[in-house]
Amino acid sequence: MLTGIAACVFDAYGTLLDVRSATGRLAGEMGDKADRVGTVWRTRQLEYTWLLSLMGEHRDFWQVTGDALDFALDAAGLDDAGLKHRLMERYLSLDCYADVAPVLSELRLAGLKTAILSNGTPGMLAAGVESAGIADGLDAVLSVEEVGVYKPHPSVYQLACDRLGLARERICFVSSNGWDVAGAAHFGFQAVWLNRLDQTRDRLPGTPKLMMRGLEALPRLVARGDA
Ligand code: LAC
Repeated sequence: MLTGIAACVFDAYGTLLDVRSATGRLAGEMGDKADRVGTVWRTRQLEYTWLLSLMGEHRDFWQVTGDALDFALDAAGLDDAGLKHRLMERYLSLDCYADVAPVLSELRLAGLKTAILSNGTPGMLAAGVESAGIADGLDAVLSVEEVGVYKPHPSVYQLACDRLGLARERICFVSSNGWDVAGAAHFGFQAVWLNRLDQTRDRLPGTPKLMMRGLEALPRLVARGDA
């Protein structure tokens, strides 16, 4: 189903890195509010990226992540600067899903290029990649900061084409975020929805070519083609 692929480009947060691991590790400090803080934090973080892009404003993802966390802690009645600081620190060393490192090595052994394309700032992504120990498995780590607008703006996906020197149809884009997969498919990537959390399919323009629960099958599905 995937043909002529020369590179696999991955979303970072939720796809390679487990965004819930930040609140998970500090759950003891938040008691029964930890889950709610985690959910509201992630939801507001993403909403703020879309809203800023619509407003024609840009605040980088570190700022947006902090603003969304302020909202989530406030909404949960946990207004605590120390807790915020510890959660933000954890966001720089999120757990990496276990299937990531082996699949990146397999893809590169098969002659494919690999990259991250993420909303994260270069600093956040460098910290996340280092803490996950996956730097050697990546040819490029690309941040939306280079274009100053957030996903799913087409100029973000175009950045991967420009930096990898590839036409859009030669790129397999993998994300666990349904709206990101839709944006990538609409742009013209061969998009794969990594449905790690068994979520419902989004109804948006742009249809992924495949849906997977984990990354293990990816290398054989993108067997290198010369098209
Ligand atoms: C990213 C967000 C969408 O890494 O998870 O770009």
